[in-house]
Amino acid sequence: MNLTLRPPLETDLPILFQQQLDPEAVAMSAYPSKDRGEFMRHWEGILKDKNIVARTILYKEKIAGHILSWKEGKYEQRVGYWIGRAFWRRGIASAALGEFLTVAKVRPLYAEVVRHNLASQRVLEKNGFERLDDGGRIWKYRL
Ligand SMILES: CC(C)(COP(=O)(O)OP(=O)(O)OC[C@H]1O[C@@H](n2cnc3c(N)ncnc32)[C@H](O)[C@@H]1OP(=O)(O)O)[C@@H](O)C(=O)NCCC(=O)NCCS
Repeated sequence: MNLTLRPPLETDLPILFQQQLDPEAVAMSAYPSKDRGEFMRHWEGILKDKNIVARTILYKEKIAGHILSWKEGKYEQRVGYWIGRAFWRRGIASAALGEFLTVAKVRPLYAEVVRHNLASQRVLEKNGFERLDDGGRIWKYRL
């Protein structure tokens, strides 16, 4: 697969912004989209924060999405990802997470997925994450 992960550049942000506006993606992830100002402030923080590992995902040289790992609260290391709709169902998220796990090495590593997001659940399971519970709306996974 023609996939590359590289640190995000400011010039990636307009594309990442558009990707997180997509209503189908928002419905799938259950993460609300951010308006432009909010998005740019959020990403300025990400780009400056040395404790966040972020990568832009390139597929055939095009910006397909992003993946990142951050500390949630005091102790919990999390991973999250977002693929632009034009790039879905080609194995990009699964392969990108596999590669990202060789860069973001903190374990345990957690992810939270809304119950109806079967694609994201598959991405995690294929990369060795186990589901910790299935009680509520949000399912938690751990590697
Ligand atoms: C979830 C998401 C990352 C999946 O990305 P992707 O590159 O299409 O995923 P892959 O191609 O690696 O597919 C992973 C698995 O999910 C399945 N899948 C993909 N899209 C699906 C869908 N809409 N419904 C059900 N299954 C789906 C694939 O068939 C594959 O399963 P398989 O290996 O058993 O065949 C992408 O749809 C996305 O970014 N959605 C919006 C944001 C989001 O949900 N982020 C995750 C928040 S936890």
